[in-house]
Amino acid sequence: MDYHTLLARLGEGSAHPGGFQATKELIGQIGFPRGTRVLEVGCGTGRTACYLASLGCDVTAIDRNKDMIRKATHRATISGLPVRIVQADASSLPFPHETFDVVFTESVTAFTQGSTAIREYWRVLKPQGVLYDRELAFARTLTAVQKKKLQAYYGLHHMRTVPEWLKLLSKSSFHHYSASHFVQIKQPVSDNDPLRVIDHELFTKPDAVAMMMKNERLMSSFANVMGSIVITAWKA
Ligand SMILES: C[S@@+](CC[C@H](N)C(=O)[O-])C[C@H]1O[C@@H](n2cnc3c(N)ncnc32)[C@H](O)[C@@H]1O
Repeated sequence: MDYHTLLARLGEGSAHPGGFQATKELIGQIGFPRGTRVLEVGCGTGRTACYLASLGCDVTAIDRNKDMIRKATHRATISGLPVRIVQADASSLPFPHETFDVVFTESVTAFTQGSTAIREYWRVLKPQGVLYDRELAFARTLTAVQKKKLQAYYGLHHMRTVPEWLKLLSKSSFHHYSASHFVQIKQPVSDNDPLRVIDHELFTKPDAVAMMMKNERLMSSFANVMGSIVITAWKA
């Protein structure tokens, strides 16, 4: 089982730094007008996508993981919210050019090669469209051994510092971009998700329990260097 399937089976609703509280704060600061066409990339179990739809956004959400898609679809259905949910890869979005006003994504681009996904975000945005991307960032460059550990467990492609994220953006077609200040990860983020669906049989599987414990250990050993930023990038 890979890390994202573990998250899916646990029904994790906000698997990103700061949790759902940080998501609501960001969305509150942005203030999307009703009818804004939003693509959420890497929607996980659909909590943010449903929240955006509840605010009147016209939401499409994609994720690569079929268990995430199943849970996101369930959440949207029982919430009675009209979210289009599609299984797809961030590096090859199944949408025409210039479809969305906003691409919203949290803790996803770091799991891709980076440049291809960002090119896709840019391609599907309308002119003057905006990308909001909350990403895992590191306070300093990790050693090769540290990177290998994180890559092996989380499947992260790159473990970028803030300047490395900005360099990636500088090579994209986005007209301009900025990154918020670096926020160190605070553990744990208490987060009650009333629509969380947990596959309880996971807790009877020793390999799954071992994975959960390894996650705890990694999070605590990297706590002093791990954090997040929010990238905002505008299409001309
Ligand atoms: C850390 S979780 C974050 C999920 C959600 N954004 C949240 O904050 O709760 C990363 C998500 O990105 C999805 N993902 C990873 N790589 C992807 C890719 N290349 N294309 C689409 N989804 C991807 C995973 O399946 C997972 O649902």
